[in-house]
Amino acid sequence: MERGRSSKNQGATKSTTNKSKTTTGKKDHQSLLRKFFVEELQDIYWAEKHLVKELPKLQKAATTDELADAFGDHQAATEEHVSRLEDVFKMMGETPKAKKCEAMEGLVKEAQSIIEDTEEETATRDVALIMAEQKVEHYEIATYGSLVQLAKTIGMNEVADVLAETLQEEKEADELLTSIAESSVNEQGATEEGSEGEGEDE
Ligand SMILES: [Fe+2]
Ligand SMILES: [Fe+2]
Repeated sequence: MERGRSSKNQGATKSTTNKSKTTTGKKDHQSLLRKFFVEELQDIYWAEKHLVKELPKLQKAATTDELADAFGDHQAATEEHVSRLEDVFKMMGETPKAKKCEAMEGLVKEAQSIIEDTEEETATRDVALIMAEQKVEHYEIATYGSLVQLAKTIGMNEVADVLAETLQEEKEADELLTSIAESSVNEQGATEEGSEGEGEDE
């Protein structure tokens, strides 16, 4: 694994054993990347379908209407992400297939345990839900960001455009959650911790 070591004192006697595959390996390299790309599509396809089922539970668990609406809207967007991925599979000449995404399963489990660990009808519940959902969005942003680049690399520019639409929507969802947290929920959550006023009268 250690490739970066440069040794200036190396003798010349053994230096002729290097094999370079750079000229012959190009086609294989391309098809391996394509294969990897399709596998990653299967992974995010599973993840999006899983989220379609799970987002309504987060919506139901939310305390404020604002957050519940955000989950509802993103659930609709997520259904669109699923159908976009089906389009992408078609554009690639592949049958849509879902491969279990362990990472997303874990992130969703974390969201579920947050629901169990926080009290209903509290702002703290919403703070925790936002945090859990932002982890999900960041996972999606990382995935789609890489997939867009990879699609371009393998010459599938139209596929890249479709995936970039979803990437943009994931970013918008993340920003909306940030603004909900910053505008009200976090402060309300802080009040719930029972902090006493410091003589401010209004
Ligand atoms: Fe999504
Ligand atoms: Fe998302």
